Amino acid sequence: MHEYLATIYYWLKAAHILFVIFWMAGLFMLPRQLVYMHASAPGSEEEALWARRSRQLGKVILAPSLVIVWVVGLLLAMTIGAWDQGWFHAKLLLVVLLSGYHGWMTGLARKMGEGARPLSEKQLRIVNEIPGIVAALVVVLVVVKPF
Ligand code: HEM
Repeated sequence: MHEYLATIYYWLKAAHILFVIFWMAGLFMLPRQLVYMHASAPGSEEEALWARRSRQLGKVILAPSLVIVWVVGLLLAMTIGAWDQGWFHAKLLLVVLLSGYHGWMTGLARKMGEGARPLSEKQLRIVNEIPGIVAALVVVLVVVKPF
């Protein structure tokens, strides 16, 4: 198994980075959609439209990308034997948090589609920054491997 993974290492890394791009694109789009949904009247046609769009984004881009990034990422970790490396532990913690953020945002979209407004528009704009900050830290960890 390990020999085979080593022969496809660069294909794995290419697939990993490609689906990381899709996942991050989805994580940047969803909070924006929620800001627009927040401005619509609860129960209105416009709210229903944004609810449909965020469900579509979740089903077509976010969920498949999350699964593929994790599966290929763990295969890469198996290939290079990353399990005992500090940078990988820190990266894993950050991507678990990012996956939690994904779940929280998806749940928030569902609640807002039912007319709830648990966060203010300002709060939505603030949480919109989280994926970008986490992605910057993750990329530095995996490319520079500082520890
Ligand atoms: C979700 C769980 C993830 C796991 C288990 C994981 C694991 C890994 C592993 C083991 C590598 C190979 C490192 C090497 O060959 O030196 C890698 C490469 C990479 N990962 Fe992830 N990763 C995950 C998510 C992410 C995320 C969310 C991002 C960006 C936001 C990311 C960005 C990258 C980049 C840019 C590389 C290529 C680094 C290089 O070429 O040196 N990964 N990942």
